[in-house]
Amino acid sequence: MEYLPVFLAVENKKCLIIGGGGTALRKAKLLARANANLLVVSQQILPELQRLLETGRHQFRLGDFLPADLDDAVLVIAATDDEALNRRVSELAGTKNIPVNVVDQPALCSMIFPAVVDRSPLIVAVSSSGNSPVLVRNIKEQLETMLPERSGQLATLLGRFRERVKEQLADFPSRLRFWEAVLDSEVPELVYSGNVNEAERRIESQLAASVSTNFGGEVYLVGAGPGDPELLTLRALRLMQKADVVLYDRLVSEEILQKIRPDAEKIHVGKERFNHPVPQETINEMLVRLATAGNRVLRLKGGDPFIFGRGGEEMTSLLDNNIPFQVVPGITAASGCASYAGIPLTHRDYSQSVQFLTGHFKDEDEQPDWSLLAKANHTLVFYMGLLNLATICKQLRDHGLPAATPAALIQKGSTKSQKVVIGTLSSLPGKVARANIKAPTLIIVGEVVKLRQKLNWFQVDKVD
Ligand SMILES: C[S@@+](CC[C@H](N)C(=O)[O-])C[C@H]1O[C@@H](n2cnc3c(N)ncnc32)[C@H](O)[C@@H]1O
Repeated sequence: MEYLPVFLAVENKKCLIIGGGGTALRKAKLLARANANLLVVSQQILPELQRLLETGRHQFRLGDFLPADLDDAVLVIAATDDEALNRRVSELAGTKNIPVNVVDQPALCSMIFPAVVDRSPLIVAVSSSGNSPVLVRNIKEQLETMLPERSGQLATLLGRFRERVKEQLADFPSRLRFWEAVLDSEVPELVYSGNVNEAERRIESQLAASVSTNFGGEVYLVGAGPGDPELLTLRALRLMQKADVVLYDRLVSEEILQKIRPDAEKIHVGKERFNHPVPQETINEMLVRLATAGNRVLRLKGGDPFIFGRGGEEMTSLLDNNIPFQVVPGITAASGCASYAGIPLTHRDYSQSVQFLTGHFKDEDEQPDWSLLAKANHTLVFYMGLLNLATICKQLRDHGLPAATPAALIQKGSTKSQKVVIGTLSSLPGKVARANIKAPTLIIVGEVVKLRQKLNWFQVDKVD
């Protein structure tokens, strides 16, 4: 972060503006809304600005800037066309540690103004750290349409209850749950439709009920998809904001983890092929223990929790311990990788069925019945198959699939590191060995792989 976003209290404090044109007027209006005491110094002052300054507590002087103008100021704005003057103001303010903004000269600023969506007392500030004012305006416009006009009234109403809620619900987790329950209820809608009295009554009764409520813990078993954070479901995102503790897998990317509520505790319980730092039984026990202690626990898994994700085992253990839970499906690697590689898993001309399998088997006994898999017009998707790629391709050939059957291996599908290796059952293992491939990878076998030639839409180097 280049700038620290803060909200500054300027009520009844002196703010100095040097300059009397249109920019000075806009800044003066903003500061006046925050009840600052303005001093404007300029050779000339726009009539509209003068009218504003003649109301109430403000002052202005027609003339030159004097260093003494800075005395007691908590904020300075230089809004003149005179570069030398702007620089002098900036330097003098710097020596006195007064935050200074020089309009359109970021190098001379120790503070910048954000764009503001004002639903006072609710305020949203947007900044691109000076990079793109048009982008900021765009985002501000979106926020203006998204935020109901009366959201400030809602903030005021909730603020009126804050102290009482603090007194009645002593611990922070209970207060958090209470406020979340209020915001999940019909209270916001009542305020937005102008029915503040009824909203107030509802909060009163929720508060009365909550004193005797024991807020228990629960578990959210959530699929995080194959990697691209934009493939998270809306429900996954909502629960990521709610959870107190998160147990996440190795395949959940850093970008996705950043979307979790910042103060939630994050625990990595990922498993790798030859490295199982946290055994499954321990994960099951942790989920039960953390939820029993009253936490909302997010169990975040790559892809979909019910596809090669051991979600069923974790659910069974929760059920055995009477822990409430919910399951949120995610986009499984087969769907995510196939889409981002431009390989439809079924197609009227090439494949009428698709099968998801694990390619992780240690010996012959664990291997699938290959004769059932080696079928025409059928797509096979192998998860965890990188180390057994050669065996998979050979077995399918030995059991009847032509050596020229198209096959693909997709590394880290849907992410910036996606790589796709295309070959046939005879050529793919060699090509993969030469391609410096890293897990996780997915293997797709079948005529549908041919379609990638036409349908390859996802350009990794175009991802930012
Ligand atoms: C333990 S399984 C978990 C599967 C997950 N539950 C799902 O629905 O996608 C892990 C395997 O999923 C596959 N996988 C997951 N994400 C992937 C990705 N982005 N690209 C390629 N393969 C992926 C790999 O085969 C990896 O070894």
